[in-house]
Amino acid sequence: MAEVVITRSADEASALAADHVARAIAAQPRLVLGVATGSTPERFYRHLARRIAEDGLDTSGVRAFALDEYVGLPADHPESYAAVIERTVTTPLGLDPAHVHVPDGRAADPFAAAAAYDRAIDEAGGVDIQILGIGRNGHIGFNEPGSSLGSRTRVKTLAASTREANARFFADPADVPVHCITQGIGTIREARHLLLLAFGADKSTALAGAVEGPVSASLPGSAIQLHAHVTVLADEDAAQQLTLADAYREAWALKPAAQGF
Ligand code: PGA
Repeated sequence: MAEVVITRSADEASALAADHVARAIAAQPRLVLGVATGSTPERFYRHLARRIAEDGLDTSGVRAFALDEYVGLPADHPESYAAVIERTVTTPLGLDPAHVHVPDGRAADPFAAAAAYDRAIDEAGGVDIQILGIGRNGHIGFNEPGSSLGSRTRVKTLAASTREANARFFADPADVPVHCITQGIGTIREARHLLLLAFGADKSTALAGAVEGPVSASLPGSAIQLHAHVTVLADEDAAQQLTLADAYREAWALKPAAQGF
């Protein structure tokens, strides 16, 4: 069962997550951090950047791997995940760009690029902490409903609903790419700790399915139930459909503070 922490606000959840990751970096300067794009983790990255500055943490040894990337966006496109990660993660956290990896969506052979990405994660020793959001349709990374729970990093077609959800970042909805490279659900499950953030009422159905529903490829986020170490940080709105919310609150309130996530 995932540990579920319900917070009053997205900001409180993001600060808790940042606190945890900052401590992990202090303990392990060569931490391998799995990073996500989208609106959800933006506050977390801002809090983490502040913590890094306040605590004077050295992040030059930290390695980062993004979950996914669009296939075929021009190199200078501001919405490529390579650009988003540079803007929201690499620069604010002071990471060495040579240590930050994003699947190569512009590779002549995206299939080979996907396989190479899994190898690069392995060579780094695997992901220590994987930051995850969840899509309204239950996707994690770009693993859309129907994705194998054992899948590896590969080329996928985006669901129409995902292209619509992400159209807000593009001048014209038709500009949203059709294909992506995404870490597989099996790849994500190999990370040692999953930290899933979910904010807002429009995530509540997907979150309840992921945490409490049957484990099913129809709701890729439910794969977190197969993992031994998962922390879900949700605000009240995202948590509103969790039937065990009171039990999660009680468990969190009674947890020894020193234990962390
Ligand atoms: P969002 O996307 O953070 O922009 O809501 C999350 C996701 O689609 O995984």
